[in-house]
Amino acid sequence: MVLVGPMGVGKSTVGALLAERLGCGYRDTDEDIVAEQGRTVADIFVDEGEPAFRGIEKRAVGRALAEHDGVLALGGGSVLDPDTRALLAGHTVVYLSMDVEEAVKRTGLNTARPLLAVNPRRQWRDLMEARRHLYTEVAQAVVPTDGRTPEEVAAAVLDAL
Ligand code: S3P
Repeated sequence: MVLVGPMGVGKSTVGALLAERLGCGYRDTDEDIVAEQGRTVADIFVDEGEPAFRGIEKRAVGRALAEHDGVLALGGGSVLDPDTRALLAGHTVVYLSMDVEEAVKRTGLNTARPLLAVNPRRQWRDLMEARRHLYTEVAQAVVPTDGRTPEEVAAAVLDAL
C-alpha cells in the first residue's frame, strides 16, 4: 500500500501503524533519499533546487515500489512529477487529506520543510490548490485526517480498502 498526501498529514506515523497492523514492513522514500544522498532533503533543495530533487525522488519511488511489498509513504510533492504518478499505476494508493487550517496548525512555522519557510497559510493554500487533484488522480481511496488521531486514521484506511 502506498500513502500519498501533503507533508505533515501523518504519512509516516500512520504508515508505521498500518505496517504493524498488517504485519508487514514500512518504508519512506524521504528516508531512502536521505540515506542514499547522505544529506537532508532541505539541503538537497538548497544545493540543487526542486527540479533536481524531483528527479532524485522519482528514482527513489521507482526503486522502493520495485523492492518493497509493505506500506510505503511518499514525499508530499512526489505526485507533481508525471513519471512518478505513472509509476503508481497498479498499486493500492491511499490519499491522506487535511484542510488548510489543519495543515497550518500541524506544521506551524516548521522551517525544516523548505516549501513552507515564508507565509505558511498562503503557501499551504497554493500548495493544496496545485496538488489536491493530483493526489486524487493517483489514489483509490481518500481518507480525511482532520481531527483524527493516527490510530483513527489507520483504522479508517483499513476500512476504506
Ligand atoms: C515535500 C514534502 C516532503 C519532502 C520535501 C518536499 C513537498 O516530504 O519530500 O520537503 O514538496 O511537499 P513529506 O511529505 O514526507 O514531509
